[in-house]
Amino acid sequence: MTSLLDRADSAERPVYRLPPEAYYDPAWYERERRELFGRTWNLVGHVSECMQPGDYFTALVGTEPVVVVRQNDGTLRGFLNLCRHRGMVIACGSGNCGESLRCGYHGWEFALDGALERVPQRKTQFPDIDAGALGLFDVSVQVWGGFIFVHPDPAAEATFTAWLGDLPEHCGDYPWDDIVEIARTRVPLRCNWKLYIENHIDWLHLWYLHQDSLKMYEHHEASYATSGRHWYSAEVLRVGEGSQTPRSVMQPIPGVSEDELRTLRANLMFPNVPMATMGTMVQTYQVVPTGPETCELDIRNYGAPGAVVSEEMRAQGLLILRDEDGVACEQMQMAIHSARFEVGPLAIEHERPIADFHANLLTYLG
Ligand code: FES
Ligand SMILES: [Fe+2]
Repeated sequence: MTSLLDRADSAERPVYRLPPEAYYDPAWYERERRELFGRTWNLVGHVSECMQPGDYFTALVGTEPVVVVRQNDGTLRGFLNLCRHRGMVIACGSGNCGESLRCGYHGWEFALDGALERVPQRKTQFPDIDAGALGLFDVSVQVWGGFIFVHPDPAAEATFTAWLGDLPEHCGDYPWDDIVEIARTRVPLRCNWKLYIENHIDWLHLWYLHQDSLKMYEHHEASYATSGRHWYSAEVLRVGEGSQTPRSVMQPIPGVSEDELRTLRANLMFPNVPMATMGTMVQTYQVVPTGPETCELDIRNYGAPGAVVSEEMRAQGLLILRDEDGVACEQMQMAIHSARFEVGPLAIEHERPIADFHANLLTYLG
């Protein structure tokens, strides 16, 4: 068996490829909105928030506002959230729109399947229009594990399976069809979204930044790897470690195995969705870009219907994700403006995932 030291001798040191301006330049940010988020699959929600015909929710995918709507036949469809009259956003937030989506600006109405079905004052003001050519623009929608993904390209559906890759095999044996959203917290951060993602896949910081908060896991015994676009990790609770484990502060999800209860998985769904499974709940913490130097951590917890995230679990989560990782990323954001800022040697194994992430990113950005 190869030891970590043998591998370190033979492996090449990974290279940090992004320049400092990738973390603050508005032009970089605009390119990412169009060429990365606009050309890949984006997590936008969960089926549990969109069950009845007419239930809808909105999201911003790169530069594209989208709306996802439950159809009368039970399927999901997604559209650009743009009225075909003057381009106004037709739906806000989430809710149930009844039989149609109605634009509040001049009253045009679109059926749940996107067809234009009513134009006020049509006879006098719009006698010549071809309503059949003025339906909402489609986007692609796919679901895995209850999570809803959107690709702005209406012809992208066939690419979903390849994009998903072997992600499902690395997410543990959870009752995906039965879990629902049980809590949501949004945390604004003053850092570029990529710093938070790089922090998530940086194995080296676990021993230091989280020396107390994650000491119950044996980081040296863990497995982690980049596979296709995504990244996977799994580590187990230390033997005999009894305090502050997920199970000690919250009920497990029914049906999750004993092994899985001792395993913390912390994956990355490329490009911006860390996802953790810990036996007691499934958690996504999507890093939503809100500007060149800001982002929002959208933390969503999933569990059995009716489950409650205990106060201890919530506090522990915010300590790690906001007070430790978030603060570190905000400090990195400040440092990166220094005229003398430069990235030194990366750890041969434990920071390699960052180089893999850059390589994946650059396939979109050229
Ligand atoms: S922009 Fe929607 S009806 Fe005019
Ligand atoms: Fe961390």
